[in-house]
Amino acid sequence: MNWPGVIQAYRSFLPISDLTPVITLLEGNTPLIPVPGLVRKIGGNFSLYLKYEALNPTCSFKDRGMTLAISKAAEKGAKVVVCASTGNTSAAAAAYAARAGMKAVVILPHGKIAMGKLAQALIYGASIIPIDGNFDEALRVVRELGELNEIEVVNSINPVRIEGQKTAAFEICDVLAHAPDYHFIPVGNAGNITAYWKGFNEYKAAGKIMGLPKMMGWQAAGSAPIVDDRIIENPNTVATAIRIGNPASWQGAKAAAQESGGSIGKVTDEEILEAYRLLASTEGLFVEPACAAPLAGLIKTFKAGGIPDDAVITATMTGHGLKDPDTAIGQCQQDLTPIKASKEAVLRAIGL
Ligand code: F0G
Repeated sequence: MNWPGVIQAYRSFLPISDLTPVITLLEGNTPLIPVPGLVRKIGGNFSLYLKYEALNPTCSFKDRGMTLAISKAAEKGAKVVVCASTGNTSAAAAAYAARAGMKAVVILPHGKIAMGKLAQALIYGASIIPIDGNFDEALRVVRELGELNEIEVVNSINPVRIEGQKTAAFEICDVLAHAPDYHFIPVGNAGNITAYWKGFNEYKAAGKIMGLPKMMGWQAAGSAPIVDDRIIENPNTVATAIRIGNPASWQGAKAAAQESGGSIGKVTDEEILEAYRLLASTEGLFVEPACAAPLAGLIKTFKAGGIPDDAVITATMTGHGLKDPDTAIGQCQQDLTPIKASKEAVLRAIGL
């Protein structure tokens, strides 16, 4: 059977009625990929599986929440949806709005959106409004627009987004047949860690799993409001997806870490880029820089002796590396000057 998308697959866990039109691009059912080579490389003995959300229809985890948000907006008869975004939410909103025949308006921090994400929002036909300001300022404007009642907000301050995103936790448990011991995840606006924790808890309450994972959230050092316990006015990081100084689901992230016995930590851009290159070159998995934050965090936690030998660990790889080609190419040390088209020249170039 064709996978039906997250709404049909997990209908009984979602706020959906027979009257809700299901707007789906058949998101979800993404692979949980074991990465033993990476674990060996860092000297570990634990099991690590990556939830590769890059294989959603718009190449990020946002599709899970957006199918719900756009379906519920359609149920209400909404014609226009709006979001603030560091890029991925705007891509997903634009795609699902196109599918539903709605207009999407996306408010973006000018100059800080990875090129692939901008290309997506453009080609799906969204109205793109760049602002002189960061994500937090864009979200403030969106909250004000939402008060007008004519425009449906599809940021994760809309609770149905969280409902959709929790399905990734269900899928992890369905594949493992139990909960992981730890779940590592990047934290930006903090909706996704909140959603996963909700998902794991609901699966436990439904008797599908016995235990719960420790939730390990990771921010970039230049944008780590939760770790630093203060609003960051000018957040900065190479991981533009999580360049957020005042997360909307701040309390949800703190609760997830506290209730699960986990933590929210931070890693530097250097650590992020090192983990980013390491994952691609040892496992052939290309993710965007934000996904490397939890990996860098895992390496750091392991080196500090914080990971038991037999632990089963999952981590969410939230978005595809192709969304941000500039960062990948910027990390490349190779000389790309063309040479003569001959066997001899190529052999010389590769040192043979
Ligand atoms: N990873 C990626 C690739 C993201 O795009 C985001 C958030 C996160 C992690 C963090 O998730 O916000 O739920 O804590 N992107 C939002 C956006 C902010 O606008 O696309 P979060």
